[in-house]
Amino acid sequence: MIKRVSVYLENFFYKVLLKNLLKTSKLGYGLVVTGAESGTNFEHIYNNRPQGSFIIGRYVDKALLNLPAVHATRGRKEDIKGILWNEIGNNRIRNRKTKVLDLASGGGRYLRELVQEHRNSEIESICIDKDGTCIQLGEELVKKEDLKNIRFLKGDIFRLNHLKTFARRSTWIPNVVVASGLFIYFSNQTVEKMITEIYEALPSEGLLIFSSYEHLNTRKLMRKAMATSSGEEWTLYYRKPEYWRSLLHCSGFKEIFITRDQWQMNNIISARK
Ligand SMILES: C[S@@+](CC[C@H](N)C(=O)[O-])C[C@H]1O[C@@H](n2cnc3c(N)ncnc32)[C@H](O)[C@@H]1O
Repeated sequence: MIKRVSVYLENFFYKVLLKNLLKTSKLGYGLVVTGAESGTNFEHIYNNRPQGSFIIGRYVDKALLNLPAVHATRGRKEDIKGILWNEIGNNRIRNRKTKVLDLASGGGRYLRELVQEHRNSEIESICIDKDGTCIQLGEELVKKEDLKNIRFLKGDIFRLNHLKTFARRSTWIPNVVVASGLFIYFSNQTVEKMITEIYEALPSEGLLIFSSYEHLNTRKLMRKAMATSSGEEWTLYYRKPEYWRSLLHCSGFKEIFITRDQWQMNNIISARK
């Protein structure tokens, strides 16, 4: 009886009180109503400027934008930019352009910032996302920021007729594949298939860069109060660096480099074919 009451009270707290409070803020609304995984929420996280209804909404937004997990998300963007910047330098001395295929790109913020901050014309990017709103947002921002060589394509990465076929059919062959904030949504079986496909699609010496969460201190909040665009509970898959090291090694990748952030949440991983 006591257990049933405490479960009821907990659900009431998360699913009614907290959910309604979150909805007053821009990020909270996105996480609870429009779909927690949407790349548009991530643009707001990167902008880091609190918005919401009335003072309370802005206050809640500020609190959300200051969560360690959200700091960690902004941190991973910087790490990805750093690896890409280094790869552009390596490709430059070999007279190669850096061609990035960004899987589940959202607004492709790290790619846009990289081009802006370094005035870099030695990088070309194709950003793929299944969410039309993200594609529209990315296209608008690229235009507004007057950026060249970044294209957005709407597509489900599981329906690209396999990445290998995509790469073969295209005259534009990526030498870098980025997957930021993607693998956390998928089971080991799906992730392992994707890693194999990426390996096959990359040319020799091509680079894979991705992020993975080994831990999040907002797990309960995310599971209980937030939902995906399909209305389902937000199920996330956490993985240890050892998992990735072994999987990438067995898939044929070399030069496997894994970093862990100061919150011990995000791993940024790069590996070369
Ligand atoms: C967490 S956001 C990451 C956005 C961006 N990569 C970043 O790190 O800022 C996840 C993105 O994955 C996209 N996504 C999820 N499943 C996908 C699929 N099967 N095909 C293409 N995009 C997908 C979502 O639409 C969403 O924009």
